[in-house]
Amino acid sequence: MQKSLSYDDVLLVPQYSDIKSRAEVSTSTNLGAGLILNLPIISSPMDTITETSMAFVMGTMGGTGIIHRYNTIEVQTNIVKEVNECFAHETGMPSMDTNHYVGAAVGVTGDFIERAQALVFAGVHYICVDVAHGHHILMEEALYNLKKSLPGGIHIMAGNVATLDGINDLADWGADSVRCNIGGGSICSTRIQTGHGIPGFQTIVECAKTDRNVGIIADGGIRNAGDIVKALAAGADAVMLGSLLAGTHETPGDILKDKYGSWKTYRGMASKEAQMSWRGNYSSYEGISSHVPYHGYVDDILADLKRNIKSGLSYSGARNIRELQAKAMFVRQTSAGVTESNTHIASKSRKW
Ligand code: XMP
Repeated sequence: MQKSLSYDDVLLVPQYSDIKSRAEVSTSTNLGAGLILNLPIISSPMDTITETSMAFVMGTMGGTGIIHRYNTIEVQTNIVKEVNECFAHETGMPSMDTNHYVGAAVGVTGDFIERAQALVFAGVHYICVDVAHGHHILMEEALYNLKKSLPGGIHIMAGNVATLDGINDLADWGADSVRCNIGGGSICSTRIQTGHGIPGFQTIVECAKTDRNVGIIADGGIRNAGDIVKALAAGADAVMLGSLLAGTHETPGDILKDKYGSWKTYRGMASKEAQMSWRGNYSSYEGISSHVPYHGYVDDILADLKRNIKSGLSYSGARNIRELQAKAMFVRQTSAGVTESNTHIASKSRKW
């Protein structure tokens, strides 16, 4: 049986660097088919993560957000229009010329073709075909039909997959980029409920062996900038984030207050609670719903992540993500290494 590693199991070896300033380091990335980002971060298509405000800030900070699909076509297309109008206002340019991107999710059954066409008509820059198990005949049929129904040149993201066969098949079926990782997210219970999945870091290592021309997105289970740098070094072109953005001002939903503080809801899209909200009943559930502390504004979080990603690249002596991938050397660490790597003063610090 093959050993499978998680982000905590590995560290990058620091290497000689001739980078004198982080300003020399670029975080830009090319996901293929016209989707070029200045920041390799995508916000998840989840109803507690990405609607207008999140997508707008993600786009203006150089990343991109994907409007979730748990709404009517009218609501989703209006959000896309709003985000584009905001982009145009911010830059004074027509939205298609701003280099700010907004994406939107569709499923693989029901109204997905009509939805995708309406989204493209509304000005979406790319479509994300969003299902839990993407290496599936319904995905194959959906990609085939979307390719036939959408204008050529529109970037199609798809997922999720956990294997090299999975990413290769989705690329062959027409995906320009693929979300990789199954069941590794902070709110996921797929691995517990179904026994299936591969640790997130290993998923990227495997998917990065692809010889197809396809963007790789490390999706779920990313807890800090260090995990982002490890995912990029292992071959990801971008990461997709839920929990790192959860609880910010820009996420949909109210701020909830109690005597312990201020909170926002963050829930898996396959959780009982999410299924009840969007279709009034639930089948098998593979996610949980939780409350996370209210975190303030997302641009602060993105600015910190960007600084730390740049710092991470410079520790490997890399000026950009491609150089990082070429130079990266990983070592495995033991559980003692994990303990040492985490800040560990807390157990000794004075209790006031
Ligand atoms: P993080 O760790 O960033 O993960 O919070 C976000 C990613 O988790 C996936 N996702 C789910 N996976 N059950 C799952 O197994 C769910 O209910 C669920 N909802 C979201 C998705 O890939 C997202 O980007």
